[in-house]
Amino acid sequence: MNLRIPDASDVLQACPIVHRHLTPIPLIRSLALERHLGLPAHRQVWIKDYGWSPVGSFKVYGALRWMAEHAPTLGDRPVAAHSSGNFASGLAFAARQFGKRAILVMPDTAPKIKFQITQSFGAQVLTYQIATDHLTGIRDQMTRQIAEQEKALQASPYDDPMVIAGNGVGGWEIVQTLQSQQRSLSHFLCAVSGGGLMAGHALAIHAGFPDAKCIGVEPEGADDYRRSLAAQQRTRLDHPSSICDGLLSYDVGQHNWPILREHVPHSVAVSDQQTCDALAWLYRHHGLRAEPSGVVTLAALLQRSVDIDASDGDIVCVLSGRNIDEETFQKYLAQAASSS
Ligand SMILES: Cc1ncc(COP(=O)(O)O)c(C=O)c1O
Repeated sequence: MNLRIPDASDVLQACPIVHRHLTPIPLIRSLALERHLGLPAHRQVWIKDYGWSPVGSFKVYGALRWMAEHAPTLGDRPVAAHSSGNFASGLAFAARQFGKRAILVMPDTAPKIKFQITQSFGAQVLTYQIATDHLTGIRDQMTRQIAEQEKALQASPYDDPMVIAGNGVGGWEIVQTLQSQQRSLSHFLCAVSGGGLMAGHALAIHAGFPDAKCIGVEPEGADDYRRSLAAQQRTRLDHPSSICDGLLSYDVGQHNWPILREHVPHSVAVSDQQTCDALAWLYRHHGLRAEPSGVVTLAALLQRSVDIDASDGDIVCVLSGRNIDEETFQKYLAQAASSS
């Protein structure tokens, strides 16, 4: 297959398109993290909290860029996609902005809040059984069937040049904020699942701070990117397993792999307990909520899974989403408290 791999110019081109619909998401300095890590005064730690987007996650960036590209030729046809829930709400938001219909296929176990946000933008949602999907392939079958029956255009939640470039807009926001304050960047931490979030960000970060180290973070039970790096080829994990419901893709996308391999040579994995601890830490120190998938980067930093000492610049940690049901949130807070 002939793939069109996006580059930094695609990210720059996506900026005005995405910002027509969204205001930039804040980059928040965390003195608490700087203290926790014992950093010298000239090094700062920043969190990019995509929980502040209109759908509570970063996914709206890529969805808006994808929709802007395809809306002119869609006519009355709907868009269809499978998603663990955050791309579903991102695409639902983007579809509404462009006056289009969206049909989403989500796992039966997705948090209620992800169904609610998606439906709040008028999208139609269907569910599939995630437990047996690795055997039945039902998720992809359903999405394809909808595309055929409804003459819908299918969008990929991560394996698409437009989605990657749109996600990169958030990365470019980070670059601009740091450059406007004459900061330098030594480490950039971001979750990797299908890889669209990190691929877009890595393009932007590399363009702005070519010497910064981009580090991927995954749950221990869903570390296909770490395995891919070790094997030097995309490696599929048949049974990804973690409380991080947004980080359970089987492998990284074909469009993402070449970008990740070039710009993200390091990946670390965190345990679900460390993720719960990070969730509780963020809430205690900043009063911020996040979903498990959103805080794996923070977990890696708090645990010092990344060697940050040999460098001198700032550190940016992406919090990718905050969509978690209240009772689950309380359960994980209790789990963190009982382990400390
Ligand atoms: C909150 C959150 N963070 C990270 C990711 C991973 O994004 P990607 O699949 O582009 O790597 C997802 C994917 O659904 C997500 O929902």
